[in-house]
Amino acid sequence: MEEKLHVPVLLQEVIGNLNLKPGQTIVDATLGTGGHSQEILKMITPGGRLIAIDRDQDALEISKRRLAPFGNAVEFFHGNFVDLDQILDKAGVHKIDGIVFDLGISTVQLRNPLRGFSFQEEGPLDMRLDQQSYISAYDLVNNLNESEISDMLWTFGQERWHNRIAHLVVEERQIQPITTTTQLANLVARSIPARFRRSHYRIHPATRTFQAVRIAVNRELEILESALDKAVAFLENQARISVISFHSLEDRVVKHTFRRLEADGIINIITAKPLTATYSEVDVNPSSRSSKLRVAERVINQ
Ligand SMILES: C[S@@+](CC[C@H](N)C(=O)[O-])C[C@H]1O[C@@H](n2cnc3c(N)ncnc32)[C@H](O)[C@@H]1O
Repeated sequence: MEEKLHVPVLLQEVIGNLNLKPGQTIVDATLGTGGHSQEILKMITPGGRLIAIDRDQDALEISKRRLAPFGNAVEFFHGNFVDLDQILDKAGVHKIDGIVFDLGISTVQLRNPLRGFSFQEEGPLDMRLDQQSYISAYDLVNNLNESEISDMLWTFGQERWHNRIAHLVVEERQIQPITTTTQLANLVARSIPARFRRSHYRIHPATRTFQAVRIAVNRELEILESALDKAVAFLENQARISVISFHSLEDRVVKHTFRRLEADGIINIITAKPLTATYSEVDVNPSSRSSKLRVAERVINQ
């Protein structure tokens, strides 16, 4: 049976901006199901090397099968991109010719009910990107106190009804633990005043809550700045970093980190404004709708 793969977003823009050539060493920090990696490998082989990283074992297994035709031009690492320095050390790599980050989760993860990322699929409240990590969405939703839940929903989801949702979560779990995605999604919908349920939300009322809990479970925003700093430190002169983000909180971290590094004379920002998906891309791949690509180039004064 053919595997359902994630459709890579802004593919031409990512490839076009990396200035790829045969023989280069490139890092895909968020391998997923290997869509970006496959195109990178076509451009850097023969002689090139791709270091492919993901926190998710399932993603690595899918990509290993998909990228098998490239043989040992690709090396797979199960790990967190915040540990890029250790991963490159293990690979014996000291300098790289480019790196791509395609943040967030893939549609393969989103659609798998067992992973608990989707409020549209009944599944366990999990949301861990790395199946080996200890803290799941269940742990946060059932153990944080009301004000911690409220803060999480505001800080990582900018959820307007954060106080009401947190209150109902705590009330509900006194009766029974919140164990499933649909239980949480229904509870969020009930927390929102009836007159706002349709008119105010173009998106499903649980979208922001699920985003917030996922970011908190995986500490996605806390690690991003440090990962970008590490990535830039490994780039050769004029080598490029491309980062795709999917929500404003993530994009803000990328924008500010790039600006700081540019002010310090470490990079030049190539994309004054982030690149976004064209209408035709959004048409065929609606999940590219909110994607933003920022690119920068390393400057080493010799
Ligand atoms: C949007 S998908 C990438 C899709 C990929 N570009 C493709 O074409 O298939 C994001 C991937 O990054 C992984 N990921 C997210 N945060 C990570 C982190 N801190 N370290 C390593 N992988 C991470 C997720 O598990 C997911 O597989």
